[in-house]
Amino acid sequence: MNIPFMKLAAAVAVSLLALNANAEARFPVDMPKPKEGQLVHIPPTMEDLEKSDFHPELKRVIRRGYDLFMNTQQLRGKNVFNNMNCSSCHMGEGRLPYAGPVWPAAVTLPAYRPKNDHVNNLEERIAGCFSYSMNGTPPEYGSDDMLALAAYHQWLAKGVEMFPSKPIYGRGYPKLDDPQQKPDYARGKQVYEAKCSICHSNDGSGLVQNGKVVFPSVWGDASYNWGAGISRHFTLAAFVKYNMPLGQRGTLTDQEAWDVAYYINTQERPQDPRYTGDVKETRAKYESTFHKFTSYGESVNGRLLGNHDNVGEKPFLKPEVLKPRTFTAN
Ligand code: HEC
Ligand code: HEC
Repeated sequence: MNIPFMKLAAAVAVSLLALNANAEARFPVDMPKPKEGQLVHIPPTMEDLEKSDFHPELKRVIRRGYDLFMNTQQLRGKNVFNNMNCSSCHMGEGRLPYAGPVWPAAVTLPAYRPKNDHVNNLEERIAGCFSYSMNGTPPEYGSDDMLALAAYHQWLAKGVEMFPSKPIYGRGYPKLDDPQQKPDYARGKQVYEAKCSICHSNDGSGLVQNGKVVFPSVWGDASYNWGAGISRHFTLAAFVKYNMPLGQRGTLTDQEAWDVAYYINTQERPQDPRYTGDVKETRAKYESTFHKFTSYGESVNGRLLGNHDNVGEKPFLKPEVLKPRTFTAN
């Protein structure tokens, strides 16, 4: 082989490596690859923000949004009543495909959401995760914190067209194929105890050290409530498959992910904020849009799940924003 060719080959190899390293830094390479016709977006980073020519005041607002997203615990007792940060479920700073990237909300809303049966904007979507996933109540619409969080989402969406017509690669936690065997509590418990309890603990409570959440709770009073999107078995199974165990993503089989998701989501957690006072009635009311995917109001191992008034650490059941809303203007 002649020398110039080898040099060229080496140069190509080096630049490919650099490309991969760059992709690795921004997107882990072990995620499923994009399919033909999907919209692929690599969100900008906070470093990119510092380098941008945005007004310093706008940079300040976006930085605050990032800080709230990564350390939402600073709002504990005010807006957050469990031990989650937004980044506990939206991994990689809310930028990663298959890990609940948050920027799609900035380009697909306003939109009609069956979950609450009206048109939602970005603030209201963020409010949803505060009400259910954080078992709390959102910062007020138009407040500094809401402005900052929304700005961070919009920054991540930089360059993407509004209302894109292509399906978005890696949006949410893309659904796994149906499990070969019906998800099973005992098998799920085995997976949990072998691969998860070391961090999330045997009783699901996780680990809080010196007031800092090291490992978030996967069930119990300090976890997400019965109305949270991740309490749906298929959503949790996909989250786990693509994101857990932390640092060993993708090592569970699909069946193990379904089983452990079933085990976690058949433990107790704070009441669904839409609770009517009767678990069967609440399940029936939201069955078709939501609870057909959860075990809320079902009997598992002789326990009727969600049959209690426990709202976790918050001093109320239903945040103001969950009251029904109708658009009345013509
Ligand atoms: C306990 C897990 C969890 C936590 C904590 C959480 N979320 Fe979510 N979030 C979800 C799930 C599940 C979805 C729905 C994903 C899907 O549709 O598959 C979601 C969806 C979203 C979306 C819509 C994304 C899209 O594709 O349109 C936004 C925006 C969002 N969350 C923002 C937040 C913010 C801001 C916080 C913190 C205040 C937060 N979330 C905390 C689980 C969580
Ligand atoms: C090495 C420690 C570690 C292991 C092992 C681990 N996790 Fe996690 N898990 C975390 C951390 C840390 C987070 C929060 C993500 C972040 O902040 O980056 C998390 C987040 C979660 C969440 C979303 C937030 C919540 O508390 O509900 C779920 C659900 C979850 N893990 C389930 C699992 C399951 C199931 C397994 C086993 C298959 C597992 N984890 C193994 C550390 C771990």
